[in-house]
Amino acid sequence: MLAGARSHLRASVAPAAVLAAALLSSFARCSLPGRGDPAASVLSPYFGTKTRYEDVNPWLLGDPVAPRRDPELLAGTCTPVQLVALIRHGTRYPTTKQIRKLRQLQGLLETRGPGDRGSGVAAALVEWPLWYDDWMDGQLVEKGRQDMRQLALRLAALFPDLFSRENYGRLRLVTSSKHRCVDSSASFLQGLWQHYHPGLPLPDVSDMECDPPRINDKLMRFFDHCEKFLTEVERNDSALYHVEAFKTGPEMQTLLNKVATTLQVPVSSLNADLIQVAFFTCSFDLAIKGVHSPWCDVFDVEDAKVLEYLNDLKQYWKRSYGYTINSRSSCTLFQDIFLHLDKAVEQKQRSQPVSSPVILQFGHAETLLPLLSLMGYFKDREPLTAYNFKEQVHRQFRSGRIVPYAANLIFVLYHCENAKTPQEEFQVQMLLNEKVLPLAHSQETVALYEDLKNHYKDILQSCQSSKECHLSKVNITSDEL
Ligand SMILES: *[C@@H]1O[C@H](CO)[C@@H](O)[C@H](O)[C@H]1NC(C)=O
Ligand SMILES: *[C@@H]1O[C@H](CO)[C@@H](O)[C@H](O)[C@H]1NC(C)=O
Repeated sequence: MLAGARSHLRASVAPAAVLAAALLSSFARCSLPGRGDPAASVLSPYFGTKTRYEDVNPWLLGDPVAPRRDPELLAGTCTPVQLVALIRHGTRYPTTKQIRKLRQLQGLLETRGPGDRGSGVAAALVEWPLWYDDWMDGQLVEKGRQDMRQLALRLAALFPDLFSRENYGRLRLVTSSKHRCVDSSASFLQGLWQHYHPGLPLPDVSDMECDPPRINDKLMRFFDHCEKFLTEVERNDSALYHVEAFKTGPEMQTLLNKVATTLQVPVSSLNADLIQVAFFTCSFDLAIKGVHSPWCDVFDVEDAKVLEYLNDLKQYWKRSYGYTINSRSSCTLFQDIFLHLDKAVEQKQRSQPVSSPVILQFGHAETLLPLLSLMGYFKDREPLTAYNFKEQVHRQFRSGRIVPYAANLIFVLYHCENAKTPQEEFQVQMLLNEKVLPLAHSQETVALYEDLKNHYKDILQSCQSSKECHLSKVNITSDEL
């Protein structure tokens, strides 16, 4: 409460002109659709995991609920019979840790004498109200709810037979226990409700005549349940060696000097973490409020590329190819997807209705990245290290392209009439962020279900979390004998 009062106070102290400008730009966005995206920043492509979904799918800036059918999506004699979607939560607030660092940075600016306020950017920053508060701690914001409702409307329009009214009662929702994910699943349901009852007011999720989302952290937050990952990566200071080395490397040093000059503070008072938070603030102000923050003016595109790399390095070493256990810890989730697909195939073969035509699973960027890595996606020839920033400018592993807010990976199972062979009867497509994702092994846009299972048979048959995540102890203790 105290912190809340403090930020209100700060906001009210800010000159009216600044507030008016902020309000105006957010209103301008609402009242003038089609005028593009005035708050967008040249830095937007480099926000990594804090990227807006619209920056990956720019047509949504025009009409966020217009379904856009990827021409590669199967049609004709193949009908979708099941959809399994993994969905990252929508736009969220910064975490308390990020907010504290931002406050520290703001404090730094305020301690400068009045004579030091020459730079326009630095002056604008002092006036910019710090409206983030500890209670916000990573929660889903209103824009994030909207991300989910709109995604639901688009998917329902894209797969009308799967999202039919008849199937509504058979929807299966699973979510991570985190607030932002539970809230995302509820907002997605509200979007579907809007699809079925356009114009009617939104009811509570409990009144929506379908099973409420079920919390399952073993599935959606598998990384918290994998002892080997926790010990060797999460709690291991040296596992993120390249991230730490990059923070003190030459690219970052150049950036620190530049920012210190712009902000007119001693370079010794800055560090990579503070700079990164400043950069994130530009992304948060844009994603949450749709406004252009003066923090964006501190950086140019070259700076943004360095900070994007820092973010990607962390994702690479903690969630992706950096260590085998990062992706292996997601085996159970991968197998769970194929259990659903197997069941649907079996039911179709027996001419039974598919019991779960739509399965929606809500999680995190940290849920999606390991799974995509397990499947072999976005793997560069060389690892991302502290020392190859330049060589990696054209890398595939760019988290902002892969897991923006509301990112979604969808498996669509098709039943194809007139198939020449039994194998051709069942086919699969994958979509990443509503675009067809070519199969990692063949680069084709569609696979026979049997071929896909065959390609991943090692993971499907011999990757057991209990085994993968088991920590081999140095000493054999007596209770293991
Ligand atoms: C921590 O990470 C380093 C670097 O990968 C590795 O050599 C070391 O064995 C890890 N420590 C533990 C306790 O797993
Ligand atoms: C293994 O055993 C040695 C000697 O008994 C002991 O010093 C060491 O702490 C043990 N290590 C672990 C990981 O338990």
